[in-house]
Amino acid sequence: SPSGSLWPLPRSLSILPPQLQLAPSRFQLVHGPGSTAGPGPAPPLRALCRYYDYIFGYSQWQNRGQRPLHAGTELLQLQVIISSKDSEFVKTITCILSISIKDQLSVTEPMAVLKAEKVWGALRGLETFSQLVYEDDYGSFLINESEITDYPRFAHRGILLDTSRHFLPLKSILTNLDAMAFNKFNVLHWHIVDDHSFPYQSTTFPELSGKGSYFYNHVYTPTDVRLVIEYARLRGIRVIPEFDTPGHTQSWGKGQKDLLTPCYNGEHRSGSYGPVNPILNTTYHFMTDLFQEISQVFPDTYVHLGGDEVDFSCWKSNPDVTEFMKQQGFGTDYAKLESYYIEKILGIVSSVNKGYIVWQEVFDKGVKIKSDTIVEVWIGNLYTTELSNVTRAGFTTILAAPWYLDYISYGQDWKKYYNVQPLNFSGSEKQKKLVIGGEACLWGEFVDATNLTPRLWPRASAVGERLWSSENVTNIGDAYNRLVKHRCRMVRRGIAAEPLYVGYCDHEIREL
Ligand SMILES: *[C@@H]1O[C@H](CO)[C@@H](O)[C@H](O)[C@H]1NC(C)=O
Ligand SMILES: *[C@@H]1O[C@H](CO)[C@@H](O)[C@H](O)[C@H]1NC(C)=O
Ligand SMILES: *[C@@H]1O[C@H](CO)[C@@H](O)[C@H](O)[C@H]1NC(C)=O
Ligand SMILES: *[C@@H]1O[C@H](CO)[C@@H](O)[C@H](O)[C@H]1NC(C)=O
Ligand SMILES: *[C@@H]1O[C@H](CO)[C@@H](O)[C@H](O)[C@H]1NC(C)=O
Repeated sequence: SPSGSLWPLPRSLSILPPQLQLAPSRFQLVHGPGSTAGPGPAPPLRALCRYYDYIFGYSQWQNRGQRPLHAGTELLQLQVIISSKDSEFVKTITCILSISIKDQLSVTEPMAVLKAEKVWGALRGLETFSQLVYEDDYGSFLINESEITDYPRFAHRGILLDTSRHFLPLKSILTNLDAMAFNKFNVLHWHIVDDHSFPYQSTTFPELSGKGSYFYNHVYTPTDVRLVIEYARLRGIRVIPEFDTPGHTQSWGKGQKDLLTPCYNGEHRSGSYGPVNPILNTTYHFMTDLFQEISQVFPDTYVHLGGDEVDFSCWKSNPDVTEFMKQQGFGTDYAKLESYYIEKILGIVSSVNKGYIVWQEVFDKGVKIKSDTIVEVWIGNLYTTELSNVTRAGFTTILAAPWYLDYISYGQDWKKYYNVQPLNFSGSEKQKKLVIGGEACLWGEFVDATNLTPRLWPRASAVGERLWSSENVTNIGDAYNRLVKHRCRMVRRGIAAEPLYVGYCDHEIREL
């Protein structure tokens, strides 16, 4: 296959026979003339060091002494040229880049050039460049003369990690950010809290994690959260936290009195609690303060507000809720109460200048949502109809339904994820444009640090290519050949990605 081990497949590429050698002691990754350095502690500069290691640091010949250098043409430099100063995180990250290895008239040795509009495109291009380098049987590093132009098909390419069902140590989150960058994902959807535990350490409400985490040290301190965000940023990945309410909040109740609805058994409190109590003003004061904090801690312009799977039975049992329903004229329609709650939360989050993503139920139940709300489609087999419905109503959407990677099965299920065509639903061109991408979701009921990485990779890589490459990149045989190599490369770089099928990797597996 002419595309060798490239993953995801670029938009257009031509790889030619002439080969060039790279000598680790001489090869340089540098900013080209006129390149803007990028903002703050510049991601590209740090990335250059990282990619030097990815290219040369994991050689199978590492301990075999001097590498022989063949006589022939040597590639001395990769110049990275970024043209736009505007490098902040934006909703749509566009990157157009080209790598070309050209003979420069004034230079006797060839050099590679990577041109990108933005820092984020340059990061993706460095990944592609590193994937083009290979080792021959004598341990020489080689690259073929190539021309590549690349940019993603979808702007939102996410991975959902769940740190509530099981606590994930920082190291396993960071490792997966590395793997995401290797697969050109750009959004970490951090499902940080849920019923089972509340590991987010809030400075405003320290009792939430103080009482709601599994264990005193199973928390993400403000420093940990900053570290994740910065580590992600340097890899071109946005971090979108999810604070799911009013359901999925059992752990919240431990550290915040009166937040959850007390359930009744006939006339008496049963001792158990239901969703967030929507009838108390104190609920909204609390949420205002919490989201104020969240909006400052997480720099992304979006917060995920959940809104899925709200169970009405506790609300129905509670006489104060019944009374409130009467006063508000909701009758016995508890979906109206849920809408009342969610509309207030959306108002609070807007007032702290964040946009929001919600799970599809919020749309399905007819909650009044602002026109710029992003609806995430997650429910089972009817997702194509749901995509039609959501986009017909004019909402931007993200597709997760066919990519619930927590469902495991025998054999090569990556093919099922690969074969999904996100835009194969009935709707106009305008509707199709509202699908901004998708997410591979690894819910944590049966996943902790021991099995997270092998369960996610390379299965999520299939989703990565579907969201990045052209619509017509559908040849499963070619994908298999490339993915086997890509998986070995991930393993070589320290990612414990599971095998696709029988076979072996060229290099020894390093300690993981
Ligand atoms: C790279 O060049 C070699 C030697 O000319 C050639 O055999 C090989 O097919 C080329 N690789 C690709 C991916 O085109
Ligand atoms: C709750 O807030 C509403 C609207 O601001 C106000 O009318 C009501 O009196 C408040 N209720 C309590 C118990 O403070
Ligand atoms: C889409 O909308 C139609 C018409 O309103 C409705 O019948 C159908 O149940 C909806 N589909 C989904 C998956 O929600
Ligand atoms: C698109 O969806 C239709 C209807 O579900 C199906 O028959 C068709 O095979 C799909 N096409 C592709 C390319 O997936
Ligand atoms: C996909 O379509 C593009 C543009 O139409 C074309 O250049 C490319 O060769 C096609 N790729 C495949 C794998 O068919």
